Amino acid sequence: MPAGMQGKTILLIVAGGIAAFKALELVRELRRAGARVLPVLSENGARFVTPLALSALAGETVRTSLWDLEDEALMGHIQLSRAADLIVVCPATADLMARAAAGRADDLAATLLLATDTPVLMVPAMNVRMWLHPATQRNIERLRGDGVTVLEPDDGEMACGEFGPGRLPDIPAIMAAIAAQFGPGPLAGLHALVTAGPTHEPIDPVRFIGNHSSGKQGFAIAGALAAAGARVTLVAGPVQLPTPAGVRRVDVMTAHQMQAACQAALPADIAVMVAAVADWRAETAPAKLKKDGSGPPALVLRENPDILAGIGHDARRPALVVGFAAETGDLLAHAAAKRVRKGADWIVANDVSEGVFGSDHTHVQLVTAAGAEDWGPCPKQAVATRLVARIASHFGAAP
Ligand code: CTP
Repeated sequence: MPAGMQGKTILLIVAGGIAAFKALELVRELRRAGARVLPVLSENGARFVTPLALSALAGETVRTSLWDLEDEALMGHIQLSRAADLIVVCPATADLMARAAAGRADDLAATLLLATDTPVLMVPAMNVRMWLHPATQRNIERLRGDGVTVLEPDDGEMACGEFGPGRLPDIPAIMAAIAAQFGPGPLAGLHALVTAGPTHEPIDPVRFIGNHSSGKQGFAIAGALAAAGARVTLVAGPVQLPTPAGVRRVDVMTAHQMQAACQAALPADIAVMVAAVADWRAETAPAKLKKDGSGPPALVLRENPDILAGIGHDARRPALVVGFAAETGDLLAHAAAKRVRKGADWIVANDVSEGVFGSDHTHVQLVTAAGAEDWGPCPKQAVATRLVARIASHFGAAP
């Protein structure tokens, strides 16, 4: 994660919207990146997340009111807003943005925003009609004119069932935007190539050989690399995941296409090959295979190129090559052998018999020339953050 986030204090204002629960995940990621988080929960925010949850995750007292005498004695709201290196409003509701744009000070959140000269980043989330309403757009223009950074919301299906812009951007995108507030990350100037997802190898025009890879781990790593300042090329197999902020994405279907896209992306300084590339492709029938009474057709399989091994032994080999190993037994022995055979520096090994595919959680071990480190069970996002911190320190930047 960005060196800049380590040791920073972030005042996080959580306003009242359905996306407020996602602020809890943001708190976790910020702390993982080494930041101190001072949480402020608006009265309406407290209808969506409890002060206790926010406080437990932040490891700090949650401020909710202007009139909390004990807090006023300990740290007045003016000091609170100035103790921070950055104020993040997540989610920023239409109402809070309207009040901030108008310079109101009618609750703790609005007062803090008015009383501060600390940079402010707002992460809007609201119903699509509210977002598109001229009043909201006018308020956003005013806030931006006042120097506030207001992110664009994501497009898609909303909690209320409508479609359009208004969704909270995903956490890696928010982390990238926060990191950008602290200047270039530790991987600035480096190009990272990431593969993610499965490949689909066609059998005929309607069928394919595939696998259960969801692409989540590779996408999380691509996002974390971008958040750390790297220029990222993400070569993605067929998955329906949003492109992480700041990432250049190349969509492919087959292993051959993935290999070509990877070769085209070289030179790179870092390669992280997370894709579950199909080991075999079928000889593709030009027309749909039909049942003709003579029994099932025999599939003729050919071996696919090994993309990681190709990169690991390429004349233009990136300075750091990281592979993954999906195993269902003898994890460390297989991973260590793969590391050498494929010319990788590190292998992130996971036991896929534990139900990792499609899940947000995993349990990996990092296998290097020095041995194996067990990173324990954790979210895939945390693996991404930790791996990128490790990559940053490999390149001599503070993690
Ligand atoms: N990989 C690749 N190209 C392939 C197969 C695998 O680039 N054709 C990469 C994966 O992206 C991963 C690593 O190699 O980084 C290991 O993948 P894995 O599926 O665990 O290994 P396999 O090579 O398929 O070996 P095995 O079938 O023996 O487990």
